[in-house]
Amino acid sequence: MVHKIAILPGDGIGPEIVEEAVKVLDAVAEKFGHKFAYTRALVGAAAIDATGDPYPAATYKICREVDAILFGAIGDPKFDNDPAAKVRPEQGLLRMRKSLGLFANLRPVQIFEALADRSPLKAAVLKGVDFVCVRELTGGIYFGERGRDEGGERAFDVCTYTRAEVERIVRMAFDLAMKRRRKLTVVDKANVLETSRLWRETARSIATEYPEVEVEYMFVDNAAMQIVTRPAAFDVMVTENMFGDILTDEASVISGSLGMLPSASIGSEHALFEPIHGSYPQAAGKNIANPMATILSAAMMLEHLGLAEEGAAIRRAVDATLEAGIVTEDLVKKGGRAYHTSEVGDHISRHIAL
Ligand code: IPM
Ligand code: MG
Repeated sequence: MVHKIAILPGDGIGPEIVEEAVKVLDAVAEKFGHKFAYTRALVGAAAIDATGDPYPAATYKICREVDAILFGAIGDPKFDNDPAAKVRPEQGLLRMRKSLGLFANLRPVQIFEALADRSPLKAAVLKGVDFVCVRELTGGIYFGERGRDEGGERAFDVCTYTRAEVERIVRMAFDLAMKRRRKLTVVDKANVLETSRLWRETARSIATEYPEVEVEYMFVDNAAMQIVTRPAAFDVMVTENMFGDILTDEASVISGSLGMLPSASIGSEHALFEPIHGSYPQAAGKNIANPMATILSAAMMLEHLGLAEEGAAIRRAVDATLEAGIVTEDLVKKGGRAYHTSEVGDHISRHIAL
């Protein structure tokens, strides 16, 4: 069977890390007898440079026609330092999420045995950490009305949610909890915000459909604290767009490296897979960035396509590569040497071929 995959390298280290994931996918195709048909497309600063648009119509068309999208990273400092820039790479990512209806962002947080000593948290706190943040991705303050008035002296960003938007993401989180340890933490700020009260009210009514799931409601400030004090207590966490943006960055460093964690952005028709980290422009083109988060995103993509065994093969190959100390500079242990991005990809691919 042919699986159609859009490859969106994006900016900074995006092209290098995505290339390693493609290498690994090719090893999977060879080993398991699949065919992956890739179509490459532009997004982000790379697309602005080429077309003036961070999410060109041609990219949207390709994304709509494939079975899954593998995405690298977005962002370029030349735009960050220019508050007057009319177009920004990030707008491409946000438009991509919205246009493809990718309303759920799944970010698993897990500990890699070989990296446990790199975590900023104590070993005792880390024990048993394995949870998934489910972040709403196409609503809230990210997509509300925004602007300036009073001659530019007043600015506003409006946070809006409909019950239907909350329902579909909360339901997805409950379904995920059912497949895991059956615990769901609903994170909000219901003591202050009306949108949060709608979230809590909606979650409460959906909870009646899932009597096996233990539900807890937690304010976002408390959640930020508990992620570092008792992370092992979480199983599935669900929250709105901006809270999720912030909490998932916090949660991602627990594993010891930002370079390890994959994510999936899923809608009812399309799905996109990308590393959690950004475009790391300082490392672009140097063949030093860690490709593992992107390679693990490819594993999530295969699992989403129903290829569970193939996804597991990638995960085992990544674990073996970590154990063997074939790692980029962000993960090098005392006395070890830093391998190149491409060497890490080669090693993982070879392990899959074994
Ligand atoms: C993320 C990123 C994006 C977001 C930016 C690049 C717009 O931080 O995917 O978490 O805020 O959603
Ligand atoms: Mg973010």
